[in-house]
Amino acid sequence: MPTPFPAGALPELVLADELPTAAVVAVPTVPDGETARLAGDLPGGLDVDVAALLARETAKGGPGEVVGLPVTAEGDLQRVLLVGTGAATPADLRRAGAAVARRAQSAETLAVDLRGLEVDGGGLRALAEGLLLASYRFTRKAAPEARALSSVTVVGAGALQDDLAAAVAVARATAVARDLVNTPSLEKSPQWLADTARALLDDLEVDVLGADELARRGFGGILGVGQGSSRPPCLVEARYDGGAGPHVVLVGKGITFDSGGLSLKPNASMLEMKSDMGGAAAVLATLRAVADLRLPIRVTALAAVAENLPSGTAQRPGDVLRQYGGRTVEVLNTDAEGRLVLADALAYADQDLQADVVVDVATLTGAMPVALGKRLAGLFAGDDALAAQLEAAAGSSGEPLWRMPLVDDYRHTLDSPVADLRNIGRPELGLMGGSITAALFLREFTGGRPWAHLDIAGPAFTGSDEDERTKGGTGYGVRLLTAWLTALAATGDRAAA
Ligand code: BES
Ligand code: MN
Ligand code: ZN
Repeated sequence: MPTPFPAGALPELVLADELPTAAVVAVPTVPDGETARLAGDLPGGLDVDVAALLARETAKGGPGEVVGLPVTAEGDLQRVLLVGTGAATPADLRRAGAAVARRAQSAETLAVDLRGLEVDGGGLRALAEGLLLASYRFTRKAAPEARALSSVTVVGAGALQDDLAAAVAVARATAVARDLVNTPSLEKSPQWLADTARALLDDLEVDVLGADELARRGFGGILGVGQGSSRPPCLVEARYDGGAGPHVVLVGKGITFDSGGLSLKPNASMLEMKSDMGGAAAVLATLRAVADLRLPIRVTALAAVAENLPSGTAQRPGDVLRQYGGRTVEVLNTDAEGRLVLADALAYADQDLQADVVVDVATLTGAMPVALGKRLAGLFAGDDALAAQLEAAAGSSGEPLWRMPLVDDYRHTLDSPVADLRNIGRPELGLMGGSITAALFLREFTGGRPWAHLDIAGPAFTGSDEDERTKGGTGYGVRLLTAWLTALAATGDRAAA
């Protein structure tokens, strides 16, 4: 039997004006001096001194704080969750939604009663993302437990149907990206990733360049990285045309497994390396969201896909390969492979696609989480306006980033005596500033077009459940890129009007 994909559907999410019958009802609480108070009313018929209960629980109404209240009365209602919503900012509501979903995961139906709170579109979107994304599960157990939570109703935000639809589209796309990352590499060959992209985007134009085509056209970076695996590499190109606006090209690193190649990683460093295609997952899933939202914009997604393995056919340290467009690179470390596959795709976006703006997304360097930790991506951008747009999108999307410098003084460390470039910085810098030299390497292939690079090595994968992120692939990038493209499409509209 073929593996079902996506692996686990999310619960359905609907709006209502009246409280439906539900097994669990969540009611917001807000800070009130030293303790919390209820923002709305308890579901009818319950006789509880909530103020005393919250005081006894030392509840303060902070975002994501949950006090459970078992209900013994007859009827469907089994439990009331008093959920802290803090100042009801989008970030607070996202956390509250996630906390409620995790506490209600074994109930079948959940209602969230917002009637005591003022929630705008951004607030509802964040709450909905929290509810849906915290409900995400991935398993390959032989006998998985059926998902319990099948339906969530949000009460009292009836006018915000469009915001709800947008949140559902983005959450679904994020779940798809998580599924792609969580799929084990045994199953996830480059061919599998290409086939799955076709299925995911079956209403769009998708071209897959296989190894023969890549060789004929000179994609030496993707081929060099992929040549150690018995499962050949490919380049996936998917196009969405919403009829207007600039041509945006999104480029994703799609290493379906990164062993390091002959520059082999130690075992502990390989454990999460099925996630080294998190950038490709993000750009493909973003295209799904953009198409679902019918954004008036043109977007092409490129996924540079290869498996980096050591073997008798693998590339060697010291080999020189020829990138798309003709420039040569001395490969001094086969574990610095992401930049090699991305360089081909960036050069293609420049030379063949004539992109107006290029954003690449990649789990590129271990140095990035050393600098920024596991929550933030590093943003490198040659273009200040583009950087500002992405920073604005990050602020509202729940996917934070931090801008990093493209230090021109480090550029010469990529000079090679035998080739146009080398793929790691020369040791007078040690391997320090590794995220910066990696970004500088990529910049060489952008043809001076407006370009930004997101190093998502930190936030692409999480070792534990945290707020709306479930252990494993996080789908980082989908929410951020979709927020950015939504804003870009809206600005384009204004300019045209
Ligand atoms: N895929 C890794 C980067 C990575 C590390 C992602 C940890 C997520 C978690 C990348 O291909 C890599 O191996 N980079 C090397 C570069 C070095 C050889 C210059 C690294 O960061 O060590
Ligand atoms: Mn590597
Ligand atoms: Zn890698």
